Amino acid sequence: MNAVSLSAVSKQFGEFWANRDISLDIHSGSIHAIVGENGAGKSTLTKIIYGLLTPTSGSISVRGQSVRFNSPRQAIAAGIGMVHQHFMLIPGLTVTENIILGDERCALFSLLNRKEAARKIQSIADRHGMAIDPDVFISELSVGEEQRVEILKLLYRNANILILDEPSAVLTPSETEQLFRTLKSFRKEGKTVLLITHKLGEVLSVSDTVSVMRRGRIVATEPTTAVTKSDLARLMVGRNVLLRVENPPEKPGNTVLKVSQAGFIDEKGRQRLDGLSFKVREGEIYGIAGVEGNGQSELLALLWGMVEPGCLTSGSITVSNIPLDDKSSAEVASLGVSLIPENRLQHAVIKDFSVYDNMIFGRHREKKFLRFAGFDAKTIRGYTNTLIGQYDIRCDIQSNPALSDLSGGNQQKIVLAREIERPGLKLLILAQPTRGVDIGALEMIHKKIIEARDKNIAILLVSAELDEIISLSSRIGCLYKGSIRHEFSTEEIRKGRSSEQDFEKEIGMFIT
Ligand SMILES: Nc1ncnc2c1ncn2[C@@H]1O[C@H](COP(=O)(O)OP(=O)(O)O)[C@@H](O)[C@H]1O
Ligand SMILES: [Mg+2]
Repeated sequence: MNAVSLSAVSKQFGEFWANRDISLDIHSGSIHAIVGENGAGKSTLTKIIYGLLTPTSGSISVRGQSVRFNSPRQAIAAGIGMVHQHFMLIPGLTVTENIILGDERCALFSLLNRKEAARKIQSIADRHGMAIDPDVFISELSVGEEQRVEILKLLYRNANILILDEPSAVLTPSETEQLFRTLKSFRKEGKTVLLITHKLGEVLSVSDTVSVMRRGRIVATEPTTAVTKSDLARLMVGRNVLLRVENPPEKPGNTVLKVSQAGFIDEKGRQRLDGLSFKVREGEIYGIAGVEGNGQSELLALLWGMVEPGCLTSGSITVSNIPLDDKSSAEVASLGVSLIPENRLQHAVIKDFSVYDNMIFGRHREKKFLRFAGFDAKTIRGYTNTLIGQYDIRCDIQSNPALSDLSGGNQQKIVLAREIERPGLKLLILAQPTRGVDIGALEMIHKKIIEARDKNIAILLVSAELDEIISLSSRIGCLYKGSIRHEFSTEEIRKGRSSEQDFEKEIGMFIT
């Protein structure tokens, strides 16, 4: 029996086909994953199934019945529920109030109803191992808990087909594991789960069937046991992809960055860094693993001279033995430091300016780009073209595009090229270098990071993606509540574990 069946479904936005000729059977009582790169059309497909978008052509049936939804209300009535990428909860209401809100069977302001609802919610939550207090306010919940509330909302309305769009994007490794246990418990009850994700490890660990989307089409649907990570990557990108960059052993040299017993108290008096110590040597990549909010932003702000003087309340930070103290960003850069910030659009580029301008942004005072009283346009063009080739930046440079005309991955490659090629670079600081970047571009970015390391540059990598940390780092520091809780040495990383997932779990224990 198929929970949902799509036949030749297409969706056009103007001239553009976001979904094209999609035929897909989602079996009742299974976990069906859909993977694909950014823009492949996954969210569009889920919105069609959920009645948020109507298909341009094609037909859909739910449990064998042909349907034509004009709104989510109809989909909900047919037992379909969806958790969006962005949650839609009201912070000033409790868990119970949020769940019963909009459900006609229940008046929000009747105390009796609310008590009854709270009991029902608790029992559903218990049955599926979802820890939650129905009486607590949404504003007090973590992101993972909010997601649980969204899922409970669907179950409360008796949804038996659940659609989750990139649910793990906002979760810690242990929360993700918990979510997957819950999904498996739904399957046991005969419910159907449609799981959208771009993390291939997750697909393999939780799904029964996997479909791959590329440019609006489903290019494969396979039993999960029949495919490997590299199969999926190849199908997603349309060519062979190296998931793990070649990472030959590094030869670390002198210490470049040294952080000793650093303390940081923010303007609200909260201790953000507390005795943080680590060092990064020439020719090595030091990875900082951690759940966001454990001091990463404060560390990066300190390193890049982006804090008020005196924020470093104890300890010291030095680059090549020179204390950073209250140096400005420009002064830090003059020590041979480059930063690729987390939010590149805000801090690393000017998106309405041309690719040429962005390639020398921050490096525009270098002599070679200047001529008489202005810029040497010819040199800048030539330099940009060379780097476009070396970093495989996909753009039609002849048409002089603005940076915003490029995809996220190509924008990031421009920032990377500009910063890695900076003359005199000694320390490269990378914050979430591949966030929002497709796996094709990710491969190139990782390769260039390794190449920079092999040119003896010291690299600090701060990333929330554990597989990225594992595949690039020579040593790994697990950041938790403002200090390094455990450091994995080069030998430990090399030691070899039965699988990458096992290593992720091991790291996970030190960051949560
Ligand atoms: N409402 C819309 N109008 C125009 N284009 C859209 C709209 N929604 C999505 N698209 C385009 O359709 C493509 C697929 O988007 P989406 O389904 O969100 O992909 P995914 O979820 O796989 O990243 C993207 O190129 C996106 O820009
Ligand atoms: Mg999407």
